[in-house]
Amino acid sequence: MRTQVGIVGAGPAGLMLSHLLHLEGIESVVLESRSRDAVEATLRAGVLEQGTVDLLNATGVGTRMQREGAVHHGIELRFGGRGHRIDLSALTGGKAITLYAQHEVLKDLIAARLAAQGTILFEAQDASLHDLDGSAPSIRFQIAGTGQTVHCDFIAGCDGFHGVSRLSIPESRRTEYSRVYPFGWFGILTRAPPSSPELIYTHHERGFALVSTRSPDIQRLYFQCDPRDTVDGWSDARIWEEFRARLATHDGWLPREGPITQKNIVAMRSFVCEPLRHGRLFLAGDAAHIVPPTGAKGLNLAVADVRVLSRALIAFYREGRQDLLDRYSETALARVWRAEHFSWWMTSMLHQFPGKDPFQERLQLAELRYVTTSRPKATTLAENYVGLPLE
Ligand code: FAD
Ligand code: DHB
Repeated sequence: MRTQVGIVGAGPAGLMLSHLLHLEGIESVVLESRSRDAVEATLRAGVLEQGTVDLLNATGVGTRMQREGAVHHGIELRFGGRGHRIDLSALTGGKAITLYAQHEVLKDLIAARLAAQGTILFEAQDASLHDLDGSAPSIRFQIAGTGQTVHCDFIAGCDGFHGVSRLSIPESRRTEYSRVYPFGWFGILTRAPPSSPELIYTHHERGFALVSTRSPDIQRLYFQCDPRDTVDGWSDARIWEEFRARLATHDGWLPREGPITQKNIVAMRSFVCEPLRHGRLFLAGDAAHIVPPTGAKGLNLAVADVRVLSRALIAFYREGRQDLLDRYSETALARVWRAEHFSWWMTSMLHQFPGKDPFQERLQLAELRYVTTSRPKATTLAENYVGLPLE
């Protein structure tokens, strides 16, 4: 098989890249190790930045998001038993976020690629990358036990944190920066109407809690947990007790409870691999970097990466230009590190750290008070949260 760009991974990065290239007449083949059903059923992020929303709309894949997604103009920071609203739109010249689940974005992108006769090879196992240093790289893989090869001009490594792409760069040619947090997020889906019209990020002495939503009758909630916890260790009754304790306000606010239909635990880490390029291989999304979920940046960063990469590939095919490809790593990493800092900052301000002393608690509260009373500081949060402009 031969194509122009071989893409490993059908997550937000890989599918969006394939879609953007197709709109400019550039061919790609996407290899995905899981089944289409598994990809379309994996629960992950839910917050889309303004720029991500604008891109989905501008490229013809935003119709269902416009119908089913919920636009939010603010978020609440809750601490000391009180809520404080950050007016995202007022602070950013009218920008907002949209709540629309990642797997719904993936369903829309997969449908668009297949409708345009794009090639997505699901259940492609044992992918390995070859000849990255030359001008004719290739990807070998197996489907249903049969070995196949995609020959291409470039490879986009969009296969997430546990993929093969990053590891195909020799260790001596990459540098990894990482921080593992001593807590995780316990996430639930519950059948109950939204407890609040906007997301609530809560700092509490028992640990962080987040109220989010998926639809008029489904809520998504998270609470900080021990990363060694297991889902089975938490009964529904204990989960609600924890949410009530962390989210309660002085004026008697309590979350709306319902049957819990899904539980999962997410580990928290910050990670960046530099550079994002090795010969003809370009890394994008979680394959190259991870953020803790507190800033809701993971999916949005993946989309921003491939936007930059698609422009570079388009300039190459249309005008024979190499310069944007040469600058891809540097351009994308500038945004990546900004998001790394924002996600680390939100995480540090809102979570309880083991062994924390009263000094640190007071610093966190001082920061929260500052963010919720100073317009410049609130603007810093707001402009990062809705997403900084691409360039
Ligand atoms: P991925 O979405 O990971 O996609 C990579 C794809 O590559 C996958 O479909 C995978 O099956 C495939 N793949 C892997 N290896 C191979 C291989 N060898 N061959 C072929 N295919 C391969 N972010 C938030 O903002 N909020 C959240 O609440 C949140 N929750 C998360 C929960 C979990 C469990 C995880 C893992 C991430 C979460 N994130 C969250 C982060 C966000 O979902 C990611 O940043 C986003 O999915 C990154 O997109 P991606 O396309 O780079 O990678
Ligand atoms: C959701 C996830 C996040 O990481 C976040 O910061 C806000 C909301 C969500 O899944 O809805």
